[in-house]
Amino acid sequence: MVDISTSIGPLQLKNPTMLASGIMDEDAGSMQRMIDCGAGAIVTKSIGLKPREGYANPTVIELDHGILNAMGLPNPGIELHGDEIKKLRATNVPIIGSIYGADANEFVSLAQKMQQFGANAIELNVSCPHAKHYGLEVGCDPDLLQKIVSSVKQHVSLPVFVKVSPNIMNLAEIVQSIEEAGADAIVAINTVKAMKINLETARPVLANKTGGYSGKAIKPIGVRCVYDIAQAVDLPIIGVGGITTGEDAIEYFMAGASAVQIGSAVYYRGPEVFKSVCDEIKTWMKNHRYTKITELIGAAFR
Ligand SMILES: Cc1cc2nc3c(=O)[nH]c(=O)nc-3n(C[C@H](O)[C@H](O)[C@H](O)COP(=O)(O)O)c2cc1C
Repeated sequence: MVDISTSIGPLQLKNPTMLASGIMDEDAGSMQRMIDCGAGAIVTKSIGLKPREGYANPTVIELDHGILNAMGLPNPGIELHGDEIKKLRATNVPIIGSIYGADANEFVSLAQKMQQFGANAIELNVSCPHAKHYGLEVGCDPDLLQKIVSSVKQHVSLPVFVKVSPNIMNLAEIVQSIEEAGADAIVAINTVKAMKINLETARPVLANKTGGYSGKAIKPIGVRCVYDIAQAVDLPIIGVGGITTGEDAIEYFMAGASAVQIGSAVYYRGPEVFKSVCDEIKTWMKNHRYTKITELIGAAFR
């Protein structure tokens, strides 16, 4: 019998697949659909204090091996989004509220609201590669990050996850400061900063010029980041980046992840991807005589 349940600190997951932030998670209806399709947890779209329109089109381009986006964090603001989270209170899978802000005060207000609305954990998005003031500027600065994480931890009782970027040189230092500040888990990775130029017009295709690359092409980058983080801290890690099949998820477990998030593959394989990935994990484990996910976590180090 193969058991694919897992845990992230105090959060119990019936299976290790979570919906990644920003994909099909703008309202309760689409999040419920992902739950019905087997997601073990849901991460909401990243939400700020005020409504934000995001960038002009084009904001998303499908490339040969991945997806390039510069959405610009469009969202209805925390008050309106709260109604969607409240509608999911009766659900039996954890709902993780993703939030972004520019400083500790903004993150604390947002985290407190998420807790009131009934979220089961908070994910701090400090790694968007294309949102000025809200993304990498925050996620690259260990002192600012420590202040944000410790302030949020002081003001909410929920587990706090921090989502980091692959676009930084000091990843080990960053995750160590996040651990010292009391975070409960690291989520790795957000998208990889990238761009596409149209040869005929000689202009960048995205209205924002640069964006974040996701999907199959970034899996080796995500696996490397998880592997490096696992050596730098003792926190649970949630792996994300290019996971499309059960074997992709297993690679992340072996690098040190305790659970995985799936984003772009919802476009490639449809919402059924959660059940398919879980079935593929179970089949692989059975064929390789593993019975529990914990036997796979960090196997690349043993
Ligand atoms: C269209 C789109 C929107 C995204 N929006 C967010 C967001 O609001 N917050 C966030 O933390 N990550 C966001 N991401 C990043 C994903 O959560 C994930 O980290 C990244 O896409 C890598 O995973 P994947 O290869 O499975 O898509 C977005 C990604 C895409 C493709």
